[in-house]
Amino acid sequence: MSDVAPRRRAAWPLTGALLVAAGVGALVAAATPPWVAPAEEAARRNPRPADAASLASGREAFRENCATCHGESGKGDGDLAELLDVPVGNLASAEAMAGQSDGTLRWKVATGRFPMPAFAGELDDQRLWDVVNYVRTLSSPPPPARP
Ligand code: HEC
Repeated sequence: MSDVAPRRRAAWPLTGALLVAAGVGALVAAATPPWVAPAEEAARRNPRPADAASLASGREAFRENCATCHGESGKGDGDLAELLDVPVGNLASAEAMAGQSDGTLRWKVATGRFPMPAFAGELDDQRLWDVVNYVRTLSSPPPPARP
């Protein structure tokens, strides 16, 4: 009996710390502005047809550079995802992807936003479009590619 009470009391500071952490996390999330591509980037046309060669190149680039966070399926279940404060989003969600043009997706991958790195120096322009083509195939049913 005598060693139960101290343990119970000790749980409160921990609970309090978790509540504060959750509150701070919510504030950070609320302060994060929506990620919107500049209009001229969003309007860029995808010059790469989503043919077998493009999808194979995009798939390879995705597995090498993106799956650690986004997961092989794009659902956001990569190994690193749970360590990040920011949700990585769901690239397999037709709803989330359909509202974004190819130009928007290319710009997001090229520029990144912390903690997502920028890939403009890593992947050349053709591969950026290939990754966009591949990301489109992750959502089910794949939405029609937009200009
Ligand atoms: C270090 C982890 C990490 C890696 C690696 C990473 N991402 Fe991300 N990605 C994120 C995070 C976190 C977000 C959410 C960013 C935000 O909303 O501020 C994100 C967001 C995105 C979005 C926007 C999703 C939406 O709903 O608007 C796309 C598209 C995307 N990533 C594609 C990629 C691709 C393609 C690659 C590889 C070339 C990649 N990411 C690599 C962490 C990562």
